[in-house]
Amino acid sequence: MRCIIGAPKGTKDILPEVIYKWHFVEEIVRSLSLIFGFKEIRTPVFENTSLFKRSVGDETDVVQKEMYTFIDKGGRSVTLRPEGTAGVVRSFIENSLFNQVLPLKFFYINTFYRYENPQAGRYREFHQFGAEIFGSSSPQSDVEAILFAKSFFDKLGIKNLLLIINSIGCHSCKERYSKSLKDFFAPKEENLCYRCKQRIANNPFRVLDCKKQNCQEISKNAPSIVNFLCSECIVHFDLVRKLLDSFGIAYVVDPKAVRGLDYYTRTVFEFVSGELGSQNSVCGGGRYDNLVEQMGGPALPALGFAVGLERLFIVANQQHIDITKPQSCDIYIASATEDCRITAMEMSFLLRLNKNIICEYDISNKNLKSQIKYADKICAKFLLIIGEKEKKMNLGIVKNMETKETFKVKLLPREEFMDGIISVCC
Ligand code: HAM
Repeated sequence: MRCIIGAPKGTKDILPEVIYKWHFVEEIVRSLSLIFGFKEIRTPVFENTSLFKRSVGDETDVVQKEMYTFIDKGGRSVTLRPEGTAGVVRSFIENSLFNQVLPLKFFYINTFYRYENPQAGRYREFHQFGAEIFGSSSPQSDVEAILFAKSFFDKLGIKNLLLIINSIGCHSCKERYSKSLKDFFAPKEENLCYRCKQRIANNPFRVLDCKKQNCQEISKNAPSIVNFLCSECIVHFDLVRKLLDSFGIAYVVDPKAVRGLDYYTRTVFEFVSGELGSQNSVCGGGRYDNLVEQMGGPALPALGFAVGLERLFIVANQQHIDITKPQSCDIYIASATEDCRITAMEMSFLLRLNKNIICEYDISNKNLKSQIKYADKICAKFLLIIGEKEKKMNLGIVKNMETKETFKVKLLPREEFMDGIISVCC
């Protein structure tokens, strides 16, 4: 049956029957973050539009085509966050977190919004687990971020992800490279798409990741960043690779990997999967050494990454990663009469609050037979029946729903009832 008003295009409900998978993944994020020293940060779901224009970049697809931007009732232009780094950088500066002992490491699990054409692995509302490190320029922190992401995939048992790395250089390398790209693309301008024609002057990097076939064909022979890296950037990238080698982390260097957001400098990386079709990136990240200063903060290096959780689940399902469904009901307390129902309610609260037992009782006036059927349907491990005759004898009947064995428990005194239940059910 269809609801009169459906969910917006590109969004998905996460229903109770699968939420345990999300909880499982979120728990891994939290436990790993704790031991890696990343602290959780929560930033607003919407920010001032200019934040994304300034950081992600005016010429990027995200800003040009994909932002959910609207004017609020106060006449301000606000945007639903299309990514997490900009908001975390804003918060880092606005709350003067740079005055704390550095480096600082943050993580987040949030929803993000991009007005894209929905397809498998690409949604208008999606979730990311992201991490950001502020205040370290060393190659060790690049590898710390990569290892953090990799440990997350390993903990989940995700296999066969390919790590792609590249260095896109510091500000001056990027400037030199940008000039060379301009010189390369300018004579070919008329064969580029309308957007790329404009990009040549403002941000020729973006021509490299244009999805139009003509532009991609032309970009194939574009100069490579490798020839524009300064000696410091070469040393930095060499050290990142050496560290990855010494940890036995397999990777591929792809000089064409420039990432789709403007703020990156030096190391950029992606984890891609062969099991995702065209949307093959499960995780993307890199350094953004100029962004904090560019956004009004001190000159501090930073870097991070984000994992797309919907894409992660697609890969996990294809790899048959087993996530155990937790027990949804330990005991269902069925009751024969109105009087017994009150006792059932009282017993449920006792067991829930004193013994942490997942307990259910009838809240919809079902007869005893229907209650027992319901207990079976919700896969209750045990059924406690409070019948009229048994109640008068101060007794309840407990049934193990799997073995069908039955036991008697005393209803009063309450302590004895709870101990009786624990001895039978736990
Ligand atoms: P991004 O590459 O734009 O980077 O996104 C990171 C990941 O989010 C992607 O690899 C993908 O798995 C997922 N993703 C992106 N768009 C969608 C979509 N429309 N539907 C489903 N999943 C999607 C960033 O967002 C950067 N902020 C990452 C970062 C953090 N860099 C430094 N720090």
